[in-house]
Amino acid sequence: KKLLIIDTDCGIDDAQAIMMALAAPDVQVLGVTCCFGNASLEDVCQNVLRVLAVCKREEIPVFQGLAGPLVGATDMPMDHFGSDGLGDVLEDRDPDWRQKIQKEHAVSAMTRLASEHPHQVSLVALGPLTNLALAVRLDPGFPDRLKDLFIMGGNMEGKGNVTLCGEFNFVCDPESAHIVLEDFHCPTHISTWEYCCRNKLTWEFFEEMLNQDSPAARFMKLLTSRCSAYSQTALKTKRDVHFGPGFVSYDAYAMAACLDDTVVTKSIECGVHVELQGSVCRGMMALDPTDQLKKPHRVSIMTECDLEKFRMLLSRSLRQP
Ligand code: BDR
Ligand code: CA
Repeated sequence: KKLLIIDTDCGIDDAQAIMMALAAPDVQVLGVTCCFGNASLEDVCQNVLRVLAVCKREEIPVFQGLAGPLVGATDMPMDHFGSDGLGDVLEDRDPDWRQKIQKEHAVSAMTRLASEHPHQVSLVALGPLTNLALAVRLDPGFPDRLKDLFIMGGNMEGKGNVTLCGEFNFVCDPESAHIVLEDFHCPTHISTWEYCCRNKLTWEFFEEMLNQDSPAARFMKLLTSRCSAYSQTALKTKRDVHFGPGFVSYDAYAMAACLDDTVVTKSIECGVHVELQGSVCRGMMALDPTDQLKKPHRVSIMTECDLEKFRMLLSRSLRQP
């Protein structure tokens, strides 16, 4: 069995990625660790609990992590998927949600789980990298005990979604992205903003996927009921003009790469650097294919995707429970 820890700032695409893991037959999710990002940490925790409840997988432990970046405060808007991160369509707040969150901190849970299953755990990071950065600072041997790391974040051509050059997860906490890419020396695979956008799916596929008859599909249809209209309009804005029309479930690409190592058909192996200075470049990831920076660790930057396999994983994720 593939063992997974999912670190998430649970927005709609995170929910999609989590469902993808839950639907995979040979996968055991050891825990879900929460981080601020698409919503406040409290909303993120509740969102994860909701996703697990819809999929009838409430036995999976959920851990609360960091509520803000390591340094300073983020000024990133947290409302891309509505103010609660899941499209502002759910009314059923669970008054007892706090009791369903583990007492152990997310950072401690991550490092413990990696110790209990040395070299067997894949860590999939779908939000700002704050929990991971703190984990490696507290326990420098943590990355070496992981099997591998999959990240949704950063960019490969200097194109950003929230700043000119920066992708949301990295810009929310550039110091943490920097620490993780310097200090995690396990095999590391990065699904950048541009990779996700280049491998867009059609709106027709998206509609068809949501119209499956299952609790997960109905849930996802509800979550995206406002956002899909929003995204279709957003495509006409300048920001998306490079990439053309289509539906992108960002976090699902990193999860798919983890679940099936044939989904990524081409990648670049190189050193990378996260910029910490500058009003335009703070949080940007720069690639170093000619090894000018002499980084000790090379990562794998996904560039091409087997879309048929990816579509299959997405569709399957909504065919549950
Ligand atoms: C990333 O930012 C978040 O909004 C999404 O969940 C995804 O992880 C895309 O830039
Ligand atoms: Ca995310």
